Amino acid sequence: MSKPPMTADVRVDVHLTPEELRAALREDVASGLRAVPKDLPPKWFYDDRGSQLFDEITRLPEYYPTRCERAILVAHALEIAALSNADTLVELGSGTSEKTRLLLDAFARRDQLRRFVPFDVSEATLRAAAEAVAAEYAPVAVHAVVGDFERHLATIPRDGDRLVMFLGGTIGNLAPKARHDFLRDLAAGLGPGDAFLLGTDLVKDVDRLVRAYDDAAGVTAAFNRNVLEVVNRELRADFVPGRFEHVARWDAEQEWIEMRLRSTVDHVVEVRDLGLRAVFSAGEDMRTEISAKFRRERIEEELRDAGLELRHWWTDPAGDFALSLSFPA
Ligand SMILES: C[S@@+](CC[C@H](N)C(=O)[O-])C[C@H]1O[C@@H](n2cnc3c(N)ncnc32)[C@H](O)[C@@H]1O
Repeated sequence: MSKPPMTADVRVDVHLTPEELRAALREDVASGLRAVPKDLPPKWFYDDRGSQLFDEITRLPEYYPTRCERAILVAHALEIAALSNADTLVELGSGTSEKTRLLLDAFARRDQLRRFVPFDVSEATLRAAAEAVAAEYAPVAVHAVVGDFERHLATIPRDGDRLVMFLGGTIGNLAPKARHDFLRDLAAGLGPGDAFLLGTDLVKDVDRLVRAYDDAAGVTAAFNRNVLEVVNRELRADFVPGRFEHVARWDAEQEWIEMRLRSTVDHVVEVRDLGLRAVFSAGEDMRTEISAKFRRERIEEELRDAGLELRHWWTDPAGDFALSLSFPA
């Protein structure tokens, strides 16, 4: 479904209307609160407040991924532009597209930028970012897409030679099977002139990893609890966020961080729109996010399984975070 352009340079396609979004949330909450253990998928963190809180997280001293990824982009954006030879930048899970400016600048400097396609589930944040980029990079055409990257990859415009970017380590939020399906669908949509730039957080010292998801100022805890406010507002639930403790733990076997909300008391939560009563025991955890950490071999193998060849790999000087550039094999 398309909406008329907001300005001459910005077009927004909405593949996820507020009604569809609510239906998807209903489904996820109904199955997640009945599951053992309970869980909620991380995409529901990002209402306006959640997007703002995530933005704050990226500036926290403990949250190294954004700074490291930015450092790689500062050092290599021009090289990435030259290697990809693209004229269209597509960004999945684009959020505020802040770091993306480094790539947009590099592509513009090489006179290689025709089109920018930000893609996100969070419509308000996406619209604001699309407007800002259109104003800053005129006459570049901005074609934003509101959608779910697990369901709507096929709706991404195919014009031009595209560099599809997936930054911020967001791929780590997908469980292995979902990640496999995502990479397979993404690769299936890439043509011979396209390339894929992927940001992945790397396995490292456990204390630093845990601190990045459990900061001293409590911003990540507020971000985590915000998902309860989203469910309260959208599905008329009565979660009391103060009854849940923020938990971040490292799963050494899976090599991922798990964020959880731990009930501090025995209580019942009612979700009126679902006619559902969820019983929580004191000490019971509900998983709200996984954030997988990678080693080069693993990501290379997963890309290869999807039909992509990893040809370039850059890390920050400390080796905390990696960007990889892949092409259809
Ligand atoms: C961890 S933030 C990363 C933001 C930005 N790319 C960065 O690197 O700082 C994840 C972003 O992906 C979006 N997102 C999460 N799940 C999504 C999904 N299933 N489909 C589309 N966007 C999604 C969120 O709204 C959010 O903007």
